[in-house]
Amino acid sequence: MILNQLNLARKYYRDGGMPLILHTLSQKKKFPKFLIHYQAVDIYYYPNPEDIRPPKRSPSFQITQAEATDCHELVSLAWTNPSDAIYDRMNKILRSQIVYKATKNNKIIGFLEVYKNEYSIPFTFGCAYFSLDKNQIFLGYGFVQETYRMKGVFPHLLSHISQIFSHNSEFYTYIDIHNTPSILATKRAGFKHFSHLSKLTLIKKLSYWSCKKKLLGTDCSTGSRIAFFSLKSHDLHITPPQ
Ligand SMILES: CC(C)(COP(=O)(O)OP(=O)(O)OC[C@H]1O[C@@H](n2cnc3c(N)ncnc32)[C@H](O)[C@@H]1OP(=O)(O)O)[C@@H](O)C(=O)NCCC(=O)NCCS
Repeated sequence: MILNQLNLARKYYRDGGMPLILHTLSQKKKFPKFLIHYQAVDIYYYPNPEDIRPPKRSPSFQITQAEATDCHELVSLAWTNPSDAIYDRMNKILRSQIVYKATKNNKIIGFLEVYKNEYSIPFTFGCAYFSLDKNQIFLGYGFVQETYRMKGVFPHLLSHISQIFSHNSEFYTYIDIHNTPSILATKRAGFKHFSHLSKLTLIKKLSYWSCKKKLLGTDCSTGSRIAFFSLKSHDLHITPPQ
């Protein structure tokens, strides 16, 4: 019984994160009186994107920039039972940022989001907001269809993007600390660990951010749902929220 509930909770978490779990509980009038939610990510950087080389194996797929009309296919590829909010998010990204897609036989088999100017790491009940300098690119969500994994789709997407943005001298990305395949793929591509960022939320009201910059040993926490950061070459500045 408990195992079933745990599996169900995992499914909800995959589909809609903590908000979907809480929504479902509240519909069953089982809203918890007290809740602690902890999330942690690692931030990685690639100091010289111009050095990123394509994998030796030549690709059996094409890489091009996605368009607004690809929204539905991109979302259906990466999310089961996507909510309207997920479609809205992807629509917004396709219009304001850039997404590169890998296609085979006219079907999208993978994609990687590229952000300039700003990026928000979506934490539950808030986000970590990064303002990016001109020479900084933040790589957002990337996804490869299961049957095409471990075949070099991700490194090819990455090297394609690095050729286009080679004048940008720093690439950043983040990964949930539990996402082992993605951590391995990112490190394999040559990304280095940059910082660790975590957030503890107590029933939606109190948030404790903590950020560790290994090189400088900076350690900082704030009491807000949204924290503002800027990545300055090899330094991580934290602006306390207004
Ligand atoms: C992470 C992800 C994008 C990697 O894409 P991919 O095209 O399968 O990556 P590759 O096959 O080219 O793997 C690159 C390297 O990563 C490592 N790697 C990737 N997945 C791995 C796994 N499951 N186990 C072990 N190593 C893995 C391998 O070392 C591989 O290098 P190699 O081929 O030289 O051995 C893909 O696994 C995915 O879509 N995951 C689900 C979505 C996700 O978690 N996205 C990231 C969120 S930030």
